Amino acid sequence: MRIFVTRELPGNHLDRLWEKGVQVEVWPGEALPRETLLKQVEGVTGLIPTVEDRIDAEVMDRAGPALKVIASYSVGVDHIDLEAARARGIRVTHTPGVLAGATADLTLALLLTVARRVVEGAAYAREGLWKNWHPKRLLGLELEGLTLGVVGMGEIGRRVAQRAEAFGMRIVYTSRTPKPLPYPFLDLEGLLAAADVVSLHLPLTRETHRLLDRRRLFAMKAGGILLNTARGGLVDTEALVEALQGHLFGAGLDVTDPEPLPQGHPLYALSNVVITPHIGSATTKARDQMARLAVDNLLAVLEGREPPNPVV
Ligand code: DGY
Repeated sequence: MRIFVTRELPGNHLDRLWEKGVQVEVWPGEALPRETLLKQVEGVTGLIPTVEDRIDAEVMDRAGPALKVIASYSVGVDHIDLEAARARGIRVTHTPGVLAGATADLTLALLLTVARRVVEGAAYAREGLWKNWHPKRLLGLELEGLTLGVVGMGEIGRRVAQRAEAFGMRIVYTSRTPKPLPYPFLDLEGLLAAADVVSLHLPLTRETHRLLDRRRLFAMKAGGILLNTARGGLVDTEALVEALQGHLFGAGLDVTDPEPLPQGHPLYALSNVVITPHIGSATTKARDQMARLAVDNLLAVLEGREPPNPVV
């Protein structure tokens, strides 16, 4: 039985596989070229991919009939062709819950950074422009009293709302169905009209692709802030660049479309945008727990048990 893990993972959770006699191959590089992925998966029983590996029908077919489980090292599974897996009887699992706190922390970090123009201020000081104090310099927004619109009230959205409440923000949300929560439930259009800050916390699917299109971006309040720590594909990037040139106050983006965002992209030229390189779950604790869950799920399928976090 051979397992292919597409990146080195934190912690020693893979040892549990070795102890059970499973042969584990871990790709040691920073990135995994497509051709290498296709070669490495030949004959594997299980795969632990990351969000950067596109696991489609071609990969599954190159793996062949031995492939039983794709235990993704992520909560999002938009990089996996779920239909193709279902059709081939391959189980797909993910790592929900354990990264919710880390992602919520980063969402608030981006919100504060954009609202208080922290990156601009830091550059101003570092570049030697700080020669005096001025009442009108680098004015930002105060969070207290602003309305946060959470789009997608899952585990991450909920934690973002809790944190924002501590800053004195009012919360409204939209979700597939209303939840037993003390916040007003609105439809998306109502939320965009009501919220000063819109924060995305939903999966990328065919239905949610470019959910925030040009019309909806410009339906956000003038002077509003957009936060995206979910998936870049939820937003029309070209329209966002336009909305940021006058309509919106700013944006905090941990994910982009395309991703990685190439050097020279117009988003980098905007001083009201803060971009981080998809690090929402990047805490030692969350990344360790993601490895634990991925191995738990993989082992469960290999041992003929129901995995704790099934997607397919
Ligand atoms: C996920 O898990 O889906 C994040 O995007 C990366 O940790």
